[in-house]
Amino acid sequence: MHISVLSKEVLQGLSLSESDIVVDCTINGGGHSALISKQLGDQGILIGIDLDANALSVSRERLSAATCRVILKEGNYARLDEFLSEEHIEKADKYLFDLGLSSQQLDSSMRGFSFRFDEPLLMTFVPSPGSGDLTAREIVNDWEEESIADIIFGYGEERFARHIASKIVEARKKKTIETTGELVSIIKSATPHWYQHKRKHFATKTFQALRITVNNEMENVKEGVRKAIARTNEKGRVVVITFHSIEDRIVKNIFKEAAKDGEGVIITKKPIQPADSEIRENPRARSAKLRIFEKA
Ligand SMILES: C[S@@+](CC[C@H](N)C(=O)[O-])C[C@H]1O[C@@H](n2cnc3c(N)ncnc32)[C@H](O)[C@@H]1O
Repeated sequence: MHISVLSKEVLQGLSLSESDIVVDCTINGGGHSALISKQLGDQGILIGIDLDANALSVSRERLSAATCRVILKEGNYARLDEFLSEEHIEKADKYLFDLGLSSQQLDSSMRGFSFRFDEPLLMTFVPSPGSGDLTAREIVNDWEEESIADIIFGYGEERFARHIASKIVEARKKKTIETTGELVSIIKSATPHWYQHKRKHFATKTFQALRITVNNEMENVKEGVRKAIARTNEKGRVVVITFHSIEDRIVKNIFKEAAKDGEGVIITKKPIQPADSEIRENPRARSAKLRIFEKA
């Protein structure tokens, strides 16, 4: 089960009214949305977006008894303006972005998000990537060594990025790299012994960097959050939870620019972080940061 992060703080931050139009841009299995739906009346509308059709099916089931109107959209939240227009909605009242991936996707999607299992190297949020969709397999087998090193360093902040990229290129000359298991062995061969015995698994940062690149996560955040602010009603709110320092900086800067342009105010001068008790119960919450913007 995916445990929703910062649930109490999300509900407080959204400051819901019964008749709100709420957009959960990353609904997944509907953890946060189930709580949101309980605070909406029959005039309220909950729109849930996700790239993962499997996760949307779980949400559909979970929200089947909700009293508010529930609309689910399969696709990228960077297209939230199109999704609203499809429903003839100009502006919504509240938005939630809970970025990254869910525990289910990590543990049981069979798409290679985790270094703990030997799975095909996909790492896509869409369950069955098409020929136009970038996959981790394509990055490690087709990209230039320098570009691979750049993303592992840039998005993973991995100190052994250059060495790992070099070993990837060496390995693929012998055989196409197909699985997460093969990639983990390559990363192992590129890192020193002491690094392999640290608390954080030695493949964590490389896997994170590949996933961020495959799903174009940083660009999507920029586009999604900017569009959300533009399409929020007066006194409406945009609530964003990030799990990565670059992502958090992007959100912080978008909020700052919007405030400077007179579009609204930043409610969280400093990001809200989980209490120790939440981190103990759900270690995944450790790096979560929540920021809130209120439209003028
Ligand atoms: C951390 S989970 C959300 C969990 C959810 N808030 C809950 O409490 O159950 C993040 C979700 O965002 C989705 N996602 C990531 N990037 C997306 C994008 N650009 N557009 C739509 N969904 C996206 C992932 O597929 C995943 O289901």
